[in-house]
This record gives sequence, structure tokens and C-alpha cells, in this order.
Amino acid sequence: MSGPLPPIDVLAEQIRFLCEDDAAFEALRTAAANTAYRQFRNRIYIRGLIEMTNYCRNDCYYCGIRNSNQKLERYRLTKEAVVSCCIEGYDLGFRTFVLQGGEDGYYRKEDIADIVSEIKRRFPDCAVTLSLGEYDGDAYQMWFDAGADRYLLRHETAGKEHYAKLHPKEMSPEHRKQCLYRLREIGYQVGSGFMVGSPYQTYEDLAEDLHFLKELEPHMIGIGPYVPHKDTPFAGRQAGTLRQTLVMIALLRLLFPQALIPSTTALSTIAPDGREQGFLAGANVVMPNLSPVSVRDKYMLYDNKRNTGEESAQCLESLKRCARKAGYEIVTDRGDYPGFIREGKV
Ligand code: 5AD
Repeated sequence: MSGPLPPIDVLAEQIRFLCEDDAAFEALRTAAANTAYRQFRNRIYIRGLIEMTNYCRNDCYYCGIRNSNQKLERYRLTKEAVVSCCIEGYDLGFRTFVLQGGEDGYYRKEDIADIVSEIKRRFPDCAVTLSLGEYDGDAYQMWFDAGADRYLLRHETAGKEHYAKLHPKEMSPEHRKQCLYRLREIGYQVGSGFMVGSPYQTYEDLAEDLHFLKELEPHMIGIGPYVPHKDTPFAGRQAGTLRQTLVMIALLRLLFPQALIPSTTALSTIAPDGREQGFLAGANVVMPNLSPVSVRDKYMLYDNKRNTGEESAQCLESLKRCARKAGYEIVTDRGDYPGFIREGKV
């Protein structure tokens, strides 16, 4: 697929059709799997996910670690704890560490920079990805100068009205998008993405997500089904479906042949073979959990989030077996965006 996308209303109908018609879906999935194979063979990259803090100043209606959730026990990791996760991860074969967290004002931007430099000093052959939310350009620049390579910040939904139904009015889609453009300008490999099947989402919203991503041209795109969380205003809502999520993964693979697209934990959470289904629809990344076991139950973005078995970094061998059964090979390369050259310091 190349050239401009169809307009929103046409694209929305096409997405709907792919979600409803089995033959069309199979054809889409085959095309996406072939595109992924041409670009990456059957290789799947791994990232060790370290969930640094579940404190968050934001109050997104869908998210289990939202500020107003008083039932959640909060934690944050020290620099030493983060570094020990990396030491363990390096031995297991990880060459990318993703530091993810809520927007936690406790860490100063210098603290994050210090953690990044320490990881890069100890593991110069590894990539560091940050996924810490919306900050100002100075913070993003400081972390990049400290050695951070990549930044993940899902736009969540590109539909302006839909965004307002998922977030309190203090949050704006424009600011989030500005952050993404800023990150790109600084020199990060940038990841964005959205939830599939979140409350009030329409096919038009999904079409807008594709339009926005086409404009941004991110290096990484993370999507997963929306899954309800019991202690949020959206408790009891329907989760996004496997089919819708696979349709969107496959479309993303066709639209962004070189992108790094994870088969996400949310997808494994809604279907036992979700991860492998994600690969078969064109995903080429998986992000096992490398957080200290004692905090894993506390980083609950949604109900029943999987963090054992193949979702755990310690079970890499089992993950490899599962992937191999589906015809895929887990590899330990850093897995940068094809041809990406870092400019600037480090
Ligand atoms: N269901 C699925 N994904 C969620 N996220 C947050 N809450 C949920 C939920 N209830 C996703 C958001 C965020 C990422 C870290 O997790 O898209 O960007």
C-alpha cells in the first residue's frame, strides 16, 4: 500500500468490512504476514519492560493506575532497583530496556537522566526506551543527551471528540501530538499507538488513528485491545476484540512495512493465543515483563493483566518455544528501526 489513504469515511467502512467479513480478513492477514516476512523474515525482537512507577498525575478514565484510584497500592523503583532489573535482563539476553511508568512528579528530570546514563554506561550495547508520558522539550532533550534512544507515547485516540470522552479536560490530544513531534525532532525513534475497542470508539476514530499515524510516520506502533479495569469509571465495559485488534495490526503492517509493532500484553490477556495471533497478523516485537516480581501485581492498567508465564522475562525459553510453534524466531538484537541512524550525542 502506498500513496494517500482513503478519506476517513471510506476507510472507516473498509475497516468495518475487514472486521466483519472472514474471507476479507484472511486475505488481509496473509498480505500483512507476507509483508512482515519480506522485511524481517520470521524474526521477533524482544524488549525488557521495567515498570518504574505506578504513581500517575493523570486521571484517564480507562486506566487502572489513574490518580483517583485509591484502591491501588502505589510503588516506585529506585535507580538501584531499575539497574538490577537490567542486569538480570542482560543475562537473559535482552538488549533493549523499556522504562515505563505513570507521570510521577517524584522523579526530577535529572533523576531520570541519571538512571538512563547509568544503564548506558553499564550496557553500551543496549538501547534504552522511555515511556514516561508527557514532559516538556527540555526533559526529553536531557534524556536523549543522557543516551535514551527511543520514546513510546501512544496518542491513545486521534479523534478529538473521542479523546475528550476518555480523558479529563486537563488533557489535550494536541499537547500529546506536540510531544510526539518534539521527540521526533530531538532524534528519538518514536513510538505511538492507540487502544482498540475503547468506550465510545467508532470505526471513524480508528480511521483517524491511521491518518494521524501516516502523518507522524512513527518508528514503532503499539496497539492493543482496551480491557476494562474494575476501579475506573469504565468498569464493566466491553473489552476490545481479538478480531478488531488483529485487523488493525495487519493494516498497520501494510501501511508501515518497516515499523516495529509489538504483540502486546493486552492482546495476550484477552485471548490465550493472542501473542502468536499478533505475530501472524504482522507484529514483530514482544515486550516481556522485567519488573521486580514484588511490584508486578501493582502495575495493573486493566483487569487480569498477564504477568506470569511467557509474559515474564524469566520465562524467555518458554516464550521462544511458543513463538517457534507459530513459525517465529525470538532474537536478541537491539532491533532498531531499519536504517535508523542516531544523530547528536552518544
Ligand atoms: N486497557 C488497555 N490498555 C490500556 N492502557 C491503559 N489502560 C488500558 C486499559 N484499560 C494502555 C494505554 C497506555 C499504555 C501504557 O497502556 O494505551 O498508553
